[in-house]
Amino acid sequence: MKSSTIIIVVLAVALLFAVIKILTTSKQALAGSNADAVISNIMTRTSIRSYTDEPLTDSQIETLLRAGMAAPSAVNKQPWKFVVVKNKPILQQIADSLPNTRLSSAVCAIVVCGDMTKTLDGVAREFWIHDCSAATENILLAAHALELGAVWAGIFPNPDRVDKLRGLIDLSETQIPLCVIAIGHPAENPTPKDKWNQENYRVIE
Ligand SMILES: Cc1cc2nc3c(=O)[nH]c(=O)nc-3n(C[C@H](O)[C@H](O)[C@H](O)COP(=O)(O)O)c2cc1C
Repeated sequence: MKSSTIIIVVLAVALLFAVIKILTTSKQALAGSNADAVISNIMTRTSIRSYTDEPLTDSQIETLLRAGMAAPSAVNKQPWKFVVVKNKPILQQIADSLPNTRLSSAVCAIVVCGDMTKTLDGVAREFWIHDCSAATENILLAAHALELGAVWAGIFPNPDRVDKLRGLIDLSETQIPLCVIAIGHPAENPTPKDKWNQENYRVIE
């Protein structure tokens, strides 16, 4: 083999190794920065209760719904129904009848409901509350990632709140509203609470 051929082969192999090294290193760096971004999104989320008039886009609403539906659920039953309320008079009625929900300036609300036709049987039926809570937190985190503001307003198990909401958004008997998530573009900028408390956990080794 000619020496020039050997040099070309050696250079080609070296180039291949260099490309593989660059690709794997940048993939690791990307994984690291993605993890930082995800953890930071969790740690900086905080409830927002005051919003501007700017509406949400259909794409933002779909992203929020996709995030909710991506939540884990017991036996993957997905026993949920999401009701998106954009109608201002209905939002106002919800705000008026549920004062603690602080919905009055929200441009959108997602009512997270348990769908009792899709639950597990027996005592496991109550897992719908876990499932819908997981979906709710996913929506809150997605809203924060989209630079929207949101707050979780509890409905179930308060029977008065459940009945009021059922009437306002015309829910069937098989749907139970767990919570209302008020959403909009933030008109306030509260500091996220530092909730780290060493007394709130223990380790079994
Ligand atoms: C089950 C549940 C019910 C809640 N209900 C209400 C409510 O009715 N009105 C409200 O303003 N906030 C409500 N919140 C929001 C809490 O007040 C808020 O998450 C808490 O104060 C912690 O603050 P942070 O969300 O900024 O971390 C509720 C939250 C949860 C998880």
